[in-house]
Formats: sequence, C-alpha cells, structure tokens
Amino acid sequence: MPERPAIRRVCVILPTYNEIENVVDLVRQVLASFDGFDVEVIVVDDESPDGTGTVVAEMAAKDPRITLLSGEKRGLGTAYTRGFTHALNHTEADVVIQMDADFSHAPLDAARLVARLKDHDVAIGSRYVPGGSVDSRWGLRRRLLSRWGNRFARYVAGMYGIRDCTAGFKAIRTSALRRVFPLRLKVQGYVFQVACLHALYIDGADIVELPIYFADRSAGETKLGRRDVVEFFVHVWWLRLLSRKTFIKFALTGFSGVAVNLGCFAALNAAGLNTYLASAIAIETSIVWNFFINNFWTFRDRTISARKRVRGLKFNVISLFTLAMSFATFVLLLWVFPDLPPIHAQTISILPAALANYFANSYWTFRSDRV
Ligand code: GDD
Ligand code: MN
Repeated sequence: MPERPAIRRVCVILPTYNEIENVVDLVRQVLASFDGFDVEVIVVDDESPDGTGTVVAEMAAKDPRITLLSGEKRGLGTAYTRGFTHALNHTEADVVIQMDADFSHAPLDAARLVARLKDHDVAIGSRYVPGGSVDSRWGLRRRLLSRWGNRFARYVAGMYGIRDCTAGFKAIRTSALRRVFPLRLKVQGYVFQVACLHALYIDGADIVELPIYFADRSAGETKLGRRDVVEFFVHVWWLRLLSRKTFIKFALTGFSGVAVNLGCFAALNAAGLNTYLASAIAIETSIVWNFFINNFWTFRDRTISARKRVRGLKFNVISLFTLAMSFATFVLLLWVFPDLPPIHAQTISILPAALANYFANSYWTFRSDRV
C-alpha cells in the first residue's frame, strides 16, 4: 500500500446540541488523547438551550486549541458541513475527525483511527465489523433501526465494501475530504454520514474500518428525529442515482469521442489528406475532446483548480501513449489487411486506445487508491 504524507495536525469536530453534561469532559479528554500530534477541537453548537455554547466559549477563551462555531439549529448534517468547511478553509489540519459529543465514541479510539491513516485516506470507527459492537443497553428497536438502516444504505447507495455506512465516527485525511467537499447532495440531518462517506467512496478514497465499541450515551438524550429518518430513506436513493449519473456521463463522453474521431477522420480524408496523417490527427482530436469533456462535465465536481495543471500534464503524457497505440493499431491493420476500408481500421484502433486510456486515467490522472 502506498505510504501517505505524514500527519501532524489533527482537527476534531464535535457537533453538540444540548450536551452540557458531556462537552467539558469530552473536550478535555480529546485534547489529551493524541500523542505526538498538534490537536485542535472545533465544537459546532446550534445555540443549545442548555448553555453548551456558553460553556464551550469559556473554554475556548482560555485555550487556543478550542474553537466554537455557533449557528442556528438545522440538523446534524448542516452542523457538520459548517464544521468541515471551517476545518478545510481555516485550519492547517492534515486530518479531520468527526465524532459524537456524548461519549458514545471513545476519545482513545479517535487516536487509533488516526494511526490507521498512515496507509489509508479514511478510517471508520465501525460497529459492524468483527470485533465491533454496540452497547448491550440498546433496545431492540434501536438495534433493528441501526442494523437495517445501515444495510439499506450499504446496498442502495452501492457501498458494498463497507460494513458501517452510517457511522458518525471517522478520521478523514483533508486531502481526500477536499476533493469531495462541499457535498453535491445537500443534506440536513443524520444522512450526512452516509452522503459524505459515499462521496469519498466513489471518489476512490481508500477506506478502512476499525472495530469499536459504541457506548450508549450516559447523559442527555438522542437527537435523532423522525425528519432525519425520512430524509435518510429518501436521500440514500439519490446517492445511487447521482453516482450513476457520473457513470452515464462517462459513457456518453466515450461515445462522443468515437464520433469525433471518426467524423474527423472522414472529413480529413474527404479533404484529401493522407490517410495516415488523418488517422493520427483524428485520434489526437478525440483524446483532447474526451479529456475536456471529462474534466469540465463528467468529473466537474472533482475538479480542483490547483490540480488542473498536474492533471493536464499527466493527460498529455497519457495521450502520447494512447495516440501511439491507436496509430500503431491503425497502421498494423492496414498493413495486414490492405483491403480493409480505412474507416474500419480507424474504428477498430479506438479499442486498444480506449482501454489504455481508461487504465492510465483511472490509475493515474483520476487517481484511485482502491484496487
Ligand atoms: N450542532 C448540532 N446540531 N449537533 C447535533 C444535532 C444538531 O442538529 N443533532 C445531533 N447533534 C449532535 C449531538 O449533540 C451528538 O453530539 C451527536 O450529534 C450525535 O447525536 P445523537 O443524538 O447522540 O446521535 P445518536 O447516538 O442517536 O446516533 C449515532 O448513531 C448514528 C447511526 O446509527 C451517531 O453516531 C450518529 O452520528 C450516527 O449516524
Ligand atoms: Mn448518541
């Protein structure tokens, strides 16, 4: 597995709504749990009526590692969106950790998650891999809802490789998060967990699950409401459709590239250009065409301006090889089958080029760490 950049700064995001009984101890424990890292905590509070925000503001005044973000209550997803955006834009964090602020997630486990990022992009604190578990005090209703909600998310959204798709406990490299954030699908509630994971998953992030014990909260009460449940069951379908859309766009781009290639080839031939030159130019035109459409349409949401130049460079190197491969096929075909109509040779020559292009791009240009 490829070695990833060293981690120095960790930013822990704690969403709170009426967590006054938990937040002070939790923030202290979190700050003490990371050995050898610079750690900061962002508490995203939604003007909790119990005064959670006031208490955190007092802590933050004394400790520069603590930040309080206050806002209106619009749900867990909205809170996390604020927290992640702040972490990405206003901190130097290498890793963002999200966890509940009610001690369901153990601060020491957060440090274990970070350790796993040595060779992964995302580490999930997972209740549903071997060795993971939930509090035995969880009632049957809660267990069933969690289990089946999780299965639903896994199969409907299409994240077959992941066991705990609804987990609220994750460590994410900011380099991976930046590629998918802000999320395309605007969600407000708990389904944010699934939406964010799904975005990372289809972006090709390397995801690992670590077994954890999920303790039931000892103080306060759950904020999971009916609205969250409804949004969850509706939006998971949207996730599936959105990822399909990318795939369909990718296929359409491919077909349009074929049309461009052959159209160009026919036109250049009709214009009286040498067949071999026409072949090479047509191939190159379609490669450039595909690249731009993929970059500005298919993968529009993934485009990050800083990477464009690098991508363009990689693309050029790849297209040289693709061009060579396609052109070699064309020449070879006409040499072996002199009677073959050139347009047929040109069509067939797209195949090896398309394969080479696909592999080069998926393993390099639009790098995916998942093999
Ligand atoms: N700022 C803010 N705004 N925080 C919120 C809101 C909100 O609208 N709703 C919940 N929170 C905070 C809570 O204060 C807590 O720290 C954390 O989010 C999790 O909320 P809980 O209400 O304790 O969630 P849970 O224990 O029922 O759900 C757990 O399991 C789910 C999946 O089964 C959590 O781990 C979820 O994240 C997870 O999706
Ligand atoms: Mn909880």
